[in-house]
Amino acid sequence: MSKIQTTQVSVPEDVIHLGIGQPDENLLPVGKIAQAASHCFRLKNRQILQYGQQQGDGNFRITLARFLTHEYDISVNPEHLFITAGTSQALDLICALFTRPGDTIIVEEPSYFLALRIFADYQLNVIGTPVDHNGIIIEALEERLAKHKPVFVYTIPVFHNPTGVTLSAERRKRLIKLSQMHDFLIVADEVYQLLAYTLTPPPPLAANDSSGRILSLGSFSKILAPGLRLGWIQADPVLLERFLARSFLVSGGGLNPFVSSVVNSMIELGLQKEHLHYLRNVYLERIRVMSQALRLKIPFLTFSEPHGGYFIWCRLPDGADTEDLLAIAETHKAGFQPGVRFSSMNALRNYLRLSFAYYANDKLVQGIERLRQVLHSEPVS
Ligand SMILES: Cc1ncc(COP(=O)(O)O)c(C=O)c1O
Repeated sequence: MSKIQTTQVSVPEDVIHLGIGQPDENLLPVGKIAQAASHCFRLKNRQILQYGQQQGDGNFRITLARFLTHEYDISVNPEHLFITAGTSQALDLICALFTRPGDTIIVEEPSYFLALRIFADYQLNVIGTPVDHNGIIIEALEERLAKHKPVFVYTIPVFHNPTGVTLSAERRKRLIKLSQMHDFLIVADEVYQLLAYTLTPPPPLAANDSSGRILSLGSFSKILAPGLRLGWIQADPVLLERFLARSFLVSGGGLNPFVSSVVNSMIELGLQKEHLHYLRNVYLERIRVMSQALRLKIPFLTFSEPHGGYFIWCRLPDGADTEDLLAIAETHKAGFQPGVRFSSMNALRNYLRLSFAYYANDKLVQGIERLRQVLHSEPVS
């Protein structure tokens, strides 16, 4: 009998798929969310079940702004927040609002593969620009801006998916300057901003926006639970007006007001802070375990130990094709994301992305051992 799938990925018990970029189910705080929900119901505020407000519940935006101000160590104004159903939904809405088919956008090479799919849905002309260990290489971006007029630049400026790198403070300033000179929006996907383990990243790009051109996208998917479908956009209120005028928000009364109320309680009870602290410790330990296993078992694979986020981006010798290795991986009950999926130009074939978020330490080590067997089944050097 076929199994009815209820979650985004369903991996057989005996497979260790290190390509999965989702939280480990054992790290989803069911008890804390239940506590927050019952707190929220005990308040007997019937409004939590009412249609919401286009921008997101006002009380929740105040609570969220307070939480973010504390976490970022820089003031966040609730009027600069718009509540979304997560970053994927925010990206879709940004494309709907600001682009038309055939418009050009610039993305990092590599970039988050599912964002590339959203951009394909809107038939955008996607131009890749390279990154190094400090994020987008500004000179390369300038070369592209001399030839193209993008509507926006999509960047993952903090603990980048897939490379793990963070855009330096100096390059942030130069990027913002370029957005003013060339009149484009910056769409900053910052879903990993709060998952910092060994480095304090610069604050979100929108925190220093004086030109109304920056949209910073945040999410509860990685710091709480992806099934909640809750996130936010931080931007200048004038830019947010474009969002608030969307008829579906007027008709439907904003996004996820009930979940916002539960997460409001989660923050007010201190449970979100506690959970975030816990996640940071768990993931830091997992990075150490995975990195050590990689160095020991697959020394010809090069990577930098990430300071935050979910991913380790690995390079194989030139000539390797990680997509071709997928079939072999399947026979070893192993898995990873091949580099080409993150490329807007069908490149990066000798790279692969691993995640330490989905499995506990023992499985991570076993998964790396299987990866070693996969790589040794193929002449890669
Ligand atoms: C860079 C990036 N953006 C967005 C998402 C999806 O975020 P959300 O669950 O908030 O839609 C992910 C999830 O893997 C991601 O890595």
